[in-house]
Amino acid sequence: MAVTLAFDVYGTLIDTQGLVAMLRAIVGDRAPDFSRAWRERQLEYTFRRALMQNYVPFAVCTAQALDHTCDRFKAPLTAEQRAAVLEAYRTLPAFDDAADGLARLRAAGFRLYAFSNGTAEAVRTLLDAAGIAELFLGIVSTDDLRSYKPNPAVYSHFLRAAGAAGAETWLVSSNPFDIIGALSSGWRAAWVRRSPDAPFDPWGIQPTVTVPGLRDLAAAIAG
Ligand code: 2OP
Repeated sequence: MAVTLAFDVYGTLIDTQGLVAMLRAIVGDRAPDFSRAWRERQLEYTFRRALMQNYVPFAVCTAQALDHTCDRFKAPLTAEQRAAVLEAYRTLPAFDDAADGLARLRAAGFRLYAFSNGTAEAVRTLLDAAGIAELFLGIVSTDDLRSYKPNPAVYSHFLRAAGAAGAETWLVSSNPFDIIGALSSGWRAAWVRRSPDAPFDPWGIQPTVTVPGLRDLAAAIAG
């Protein structure tokens, strides 16, 4: 069977810092820091909820993380601003290399899936808005298990849902926690290190390959 590529979505295909311009109108020059703090809190909520087995959908983690970040930055949003920011989050922009990189991999014969903490509906909305939905064979969401990455169960679930074997599956992600989760499940993993100074966790486990973007992926996987 052809090699299966499971693409993380938020932060890998889709730019989670894509609302900085919109946020700047609300929090001014603090917008980049606000946006990063929001993303970090969103992910922390997924880790905590998976460990507590107290699941809520990813969009709720995102909304609650926004509220926390507003408190932390003493930057209250009006109900209209909050609604507009959360609505804009549903169609965050894709990275510039996503469409071209995915098309190259599809043409090279890889089986492409989206694999995300986001619900299938939310991921489909993002991919449709980015014009890349048709490049994927399917979307697999951790929502199916009411849990989150890097719970080992979600990587097993992906293999079942995609009809793939772990030894023939690569995770493609910009998120080190996700890379380590996939490697720990016996997959190979390509870290998309979009910022050259982005650190990897000092856990003694390394990505199979590291690439600066999606256009370099086919050659890196082919080795
Ligand atoms: C994902 O898309 C949150 O980036 C993570 O699953």
